[in-house]
Amino acid sequence: MTDRPYVLLSCAASIDGYIDDATGQRLVLSNDADLDRIDEVRAGCDAILVGAGTVRRDDPRLLVRSAARRAERAARGLPASPARVTLTGSGDLDPQARFFTVGDTDRYVYCATAAVEKTRELLGDRATVVDAGDPVDPGWALTDLAARGIGRLMVEGGASVHAQFLAAGLADELHLVVAPFFVGDSRAPRFVGDGRFPWHSGRRARVCEVRQIGDVALVRYALSDRCPD
Ligand SMILES: NC(=O)c1ccc[n+]([C@@H]2O[C@H](COP(=O)([O-])OP(=O)(O)OC[C@H]3O[C@@H](n4cnc5c(N)ncnc54)[C@H](OP(=O)(O)O)[C@@H]3O)[C@@H](O)[C@H]2O)c1
Repeated sequence: MTDRPYVLLSCAASIDGYIDDATGQRLVLSNDADLDRIDEVRAGCDAILVGAGTVRRDDPRLLVRSAARRAERAARGLPASPARVTLTGSGDLDPQARFFTVGDTDRYVYCATAAVEKTRELLGDRATVVDAGDPVDPGWALTDLAARGIGRLMVEGGASVHAQFLAAGLADELHLVVAPFFVGDSRAPRFVGDGRFPWHSGRRARVCEVRQIGDVALVRYALSDRCPD
């Protein structure tokens, strides 16, 4: 199991399990204190992975915001923010997206073979486009990331990416934040959709922490033996 990074999944959901709503606006689920916790978790990772759907829909920055944490990373010889990683089959990515333009850090695009050429042309030197086969196997991508020196990876969604990492048993830890409201709209994305997951009523995941953070609740689940108590 040392041939892949330690993988930490992070997600915020409503009480009824939605990770967004069905409007065009970005739904805020976390609060300021929880965003600061997420910033701390990010600062402790070598890379952050989101799916191409999240890059398109949320246009996230994926930066470490705290100046003290950026300085602490710099003192350890690390870039101010972790590297950024995404997966795509289509290569339908906007080179102007903040994923590619904000901050000075490495960016990796694990791309299905058929779209590699056009994606390399599209992104130029903004990212390393890795030919990751067809379809892209997240387990292979993890092995490749380990070879590039990524020891600790935070996976921030969205639904499709989280589902694949969970179903394939590629996650060591899950941070699930529950926001104190309902979305109540089945057109919105849920934390994960249908799937065969290694944790079910006959094999329950281990809770290693429950914490109230202002008006949200964080539950930390250990999903492998690599996760410390
Ligand atoms: N609440 C939270 O914590 C949180 C966090 C992040 C995101 N979100 C929400 O999640 C939603 C997006 O979720 P989503 O499921 O639509 O998108 P997603 O998981 O972010 O990305 C899905 C896309 O990633 C690419 N992809 C994923 N796995 C792949 C594989 N094995 N091989 C090749 N390509 C792969 C594909 O891109 P192509 O289409 O380019 O082929 C696919 O369409 C948004 O509403 C966002 O706001 C919520």
